[in-house]
Amino acid sequence: MAKFITLGVESSCDETGIGLYSQQHGLIAHRLFSQVEIHQEYGGVVPELASRDHIQRVLPLIKTVLKDAKIKLTDIDAIAYTAGPGLAGALLVGSAVAKSLAWSLKIPALGVHHMEGHLLAPLLEQSQPKFPFAALLVSGGHTMLIDVKAIGQYKILGESLDDAVGEAFDKTAKILGLGYPGGPALATLAEQGSEGAFKFPRPMVDRPGLDFSFSGLKTFARNTFIKHPTQKVDVAKAFEVAATQTLMIKCRRALEQTGRTTLVVAGGVSANLSLRKELNHMGRKVGATVFYPRQEFCTDNGAMIALAGHFRLSHGQYDAHNEINIKPRWNLEELSQIE
Ligand code: KG4
Ligand code: ZN
Repeated sequence: MAKFITLGVESSCDETGIGLYSQQHGLIAHRLFSQVEIHQEYGGVVPELASRDHIQRVLPLIKTVLKDAKIKLTDIDAIAYTAGPGLAGALLVGSAVAKSLAWSLKIPALGVHHMEGHLLAPLLEQSQPKFPFAALLVSGGHTMLIDVKAIGQYKILGESLDDAVGEAFDKTAKILGLGYPGGPALATLAEQGSEGAFKFPRPMVDRPGLDFSFSGLKTFARNTFIKHPTQKVDVAKAFEVAATQTLMIKCRRALEQTGRTTLVVAGGVSANLSLRKELNHMGRKVGATVFYPRQEFCTDNGAMIALAGHFRLSHGQYDAHNEINIKPRWNLEELSQIE
């Protein structure tokens, strides 16, 4: 067990990510291939192109990661892959490769929940959050507030009723004529905007509860931009401020409601520096500590899948060998605890 090494395979959307996590040494290698250039000309992810590219990338990337870590394929003890949620074709590639490899090596394999990967990514860092904690997961497909008692013990406190916050960033970026992926581009543009030029609403903060709604914010951005086409940077700023403050207000409420003093923030949008500033400020005011993954592990990667899989596989959880199963839709609350 001391040397237990888990290979992680991520292929749920537009990045092929491979990671190697060792019981003894932690993360020992990881690589990412981003498909951004492939999808850029279409202004968004084309699922069929994503699947085809994953097929070409997975095995060479695994070989490179093994070389980086100076280990052999036969040194791997278990394989974790993203089983869902995500694009069906893309998930099938990772699942098929992981299962076939595991079968041929006679080692266990386990399908990991992509959002559990994001949620546990801060545990790849030196300074780690301790359970229990409240968590904000913000990605291109999800916006969720969760109460986390332990690994696998998740209670969803609130989620987006329409667009995920990352999706709202991407759509607003598109409205402003920025390329795909829009979130980081919008954030960069917003740096030049002046706060207060426009005041956008903070959706659903006046209502009790912890659910979110971001599609109205995107429409507000569109209407403002049509009226003030020369003030692109200020529209970007107003959108970012409204989105991040809304997230902050709901996080504060979740901490109050649960009594937790630790907040974990993960998923692609947790890379956003304005959001981090807003949440750190709130944390200091209410006496809570906020944890994030390092920048490169906010967005999709193989390291987080290797880690999430490692916790479960090293506790004896694994899939049946004889089936390739994916879960394009998968509720986080259905996950089992670790015994
Ligand atoms: O977690 P992720 O890589 O993929 C999903 O699981 O969806 O998240 C991608 C999302 C995209 O919507 C992207 O625009 C957004 O995260 N994102 C950002 C930033 N970096 C990535 N949004 C705002 N600011 C950023 N710096
Ligand atoms: Zn993701």
